[in-house]
Amino acid sequence: MTDRQSSDEASSKASAWNPAQYAHFGGFRDRPFHELVARIGAVEPKVVVDLGCGPGDLTLTLADRWPDAHVVGVDSSAEMLEAARAADAGHRVEWVQATAENWDGAEASGCVDVLVTNATLQWVPSHLRLIPSWVSALAPGGTFAMQVPANFDAPSHRLMREVAARHSRADDLAPGLDRAAGTALPETYAALLLEVSADVDVWQTTYLQVLAPPADGTHPVLDWVKGTGLRPVLGVLTDTAERDAFVADYEAELEKAYPRRPFGVLFPFTRTFAVARAAEV
Ligand SMILES: C[S@@+](CC[C@H](N)C(=O)[O-])C[C@H]1O[C@@H](n2cnc3c(N)ncnc32)[C@H](O)[C@@H]1O
Repeated sequence: MTDRQSSDEASSKASAWNPAQYAHFGGFRDRPFHELVARIGAVEPKVVVDLGCGPGDLTLTLADRWPDAHVVGVDSSAEMLEAARAADAGHRVEWVQATAENWDGAEASGCVDVLVTNATLQWVPSHLRLIPSWVSALAPGGTFAMQVPANFDAPSHRLMREVAARHSRADDLAPGLDRAAGTALPETYAALLLEVSADVDVWQTTYLQVLAPPADGTHPVLDWVKGTGLRPVLGVLTDTAERDAFVADYEAELEKAYPRRPFGVLFPFTRTFAVARAAEV
């Protein structure tokens, strides 16, 4: 094995989606999904797709709601799909490994009646181009429902970029952090969807989350971002000393921005939601 291969493998392990780390804050992460799908009015959809389904627990709630539908969970991560298959003891969902960029809903699943994509499109830089094509390919009267974080100017992410900028590997870290900053303003999603649908609902919610520190005493916001936003950094910093230096610097900044209090740490988190309904033809 070459050095390059071994470093690529280490990097892909460090930045791979980790279902266990992601599940730490399951309650906080589930709520936006449920608030999103509550706005979907479909009664008897035939095909329901969850694009970026992650560990599958939320996809299974779609199968609970529409037991007669063909429910498909799509994700690019083999680790996440393995967790999803393990959670689906009744084989109620078809699990498909594909990227959002390459997934062709109409070809893969037939006419899609409900397309849900929760907390995923921030990882898909071309999503503003893809969304109109997905909505246009829905079955008549079908629904597109998305939720993305709108926290890239929050201290958690701003400080991550600042610490990266003064790190010895700043040039290597910058592209991953830029790429993660990939969500648009709510107005942009609304305008985009109104081009292809007359029935559009876009909103934002800020959740004032109270995080408890994990047992090892790590700052809870650091523990949170380890499962998502910090992954591009961890994927680059495969050398332990380099990584520890980054994490120590970043955690010290988080301690100031999100002070520990007797009840935990207050971590405001804003999310953007959009639901659009295709015309009945
Ligand atoms: C933050 S998790 C959200 C998972 C799930 N939707 C939920 O709400 O719990 C993001 C998911 O998007 C997947 N993902 C990231 N980039 C992707 C891409 N380009 N195409 C498909 N899935 C992607 C990841 O593997 C991960 O499972």
